[in-house]
Amino acid sequence: MKLILIGFGSVGQGFVQILRDKRADLAARYGFTPQIAAVVTRTRGSLYHPNGLNLDALLTDFAAYPDTPGLVRGWDAARIVRDCPADVMLEASPTNFETGQPALDLCRLALEHGKHIVLANKGPVAVAYRELNALAHSSGRAFRFEGTVMAGTPSLRLGMQALAGCTITAARGILNGTTNYMLTQMENGVPYADVLAQAQQLGYAEADPTADVDGWDAAAKAIIVAQALFNKKLTFADMDVRGISHLTPPDIDAARAAGERWKLIATVTPEGGSVQPTRLPLSHPLAGVSGSTNAITYTTDLLGDVTLIGSGAGRIQTGFALLSDVLEIFTKFTPSFTQ
Ligand code: HSE
Repeated sequence: MKLILIGFGSVGQGFVQILRDKRADLAARYGFTPQIAAVVTRTRGSLYHPNGLNLDALLTDFAAYPDTPGLVRGWDAARIVRDCPADVMLEASPTNFETGQPALDLCRLALEHGKHIVLANKGPVAVAYRELNALAHSSGRAFRFEGTVMAGTPSLRLGMQALAGCTITAARGILNGTTNYMLTQMENGVPYADVLAQAQQLGYAEADPTADVDGWDAAAKAIIVAQALFNKKLTFADMDVRGISHLTPPDIDAARAAGERWKLIATVTPEGGSVQPTRLPLSHPLAGVSGSTNAITYTTDLLGDVTLIGSGAGRIQTGFALLSDVLEIFTKFTPSFTQ
């Protein structure tokens, strides 16, 4: 299987690191021996090799990738997606919450050129879920986006696959790793600006972290959940969104004095949703979800509430989401595959 990787920041590098470190295991257990045919970055150009790029060299220093026979440098993303023979395009470039671009056009192009698409980038899924889903159906290709919600924790797979047959009427949870990490650290007395810087260093925050602290990242995830699970078109205009940037140390102290804790809670139903900082009693199940860990509770007709707790952000954690989607495509589209 040949892969094109758009974006080589924290998530893209995490994915390549997993492929390198688990190469033997993936080959032995699944017969899965993928090649990264091309990597496209925003600021450091692109690399393409028809026989696959060297993963160690990519991870050591992208800018110093050695010249080898057959290596092509500098093609733009559209040319690579159009002209490189590959099975899957992975999109892990920074999210544009307003337009989904430039990733959205690349997704359209990839599907038009017979490539499956796998996204960790939330923008195109939040903005154009229905269009991409329809395009994927008509081209017989897969459209997967597990990494857009709760990193590699299989929140979407749980709702879309494991709970298939249930009617899900609501989803509620902690869907942003950056703010949950910040709230946990602020309870320990670390100032707001310092914890935000830490969340950026740890690779949790968006390229523009106002999307995290003002609630838009959590809102985008709630919209993705709604579109994927309720088959209902929701937009940011349907969401009542407030972040954590106005919370002060006295607010944190007041909650603690009352035996409560602030959490940024996203809620979504087929009618709409909200993202709101909320004081929860310490006995509430979501009050104990700390650091960059996230949680989602699906309310279902046949099982009642089902809750999943796991990593919400991070380099390897989101890199794994890409792997899980690519492996699913591999097993589904490889006729000879048997487990
Ligand atoms: N900035 C996001 C977060 C990354 O903190 O949750 C994972 O989507």
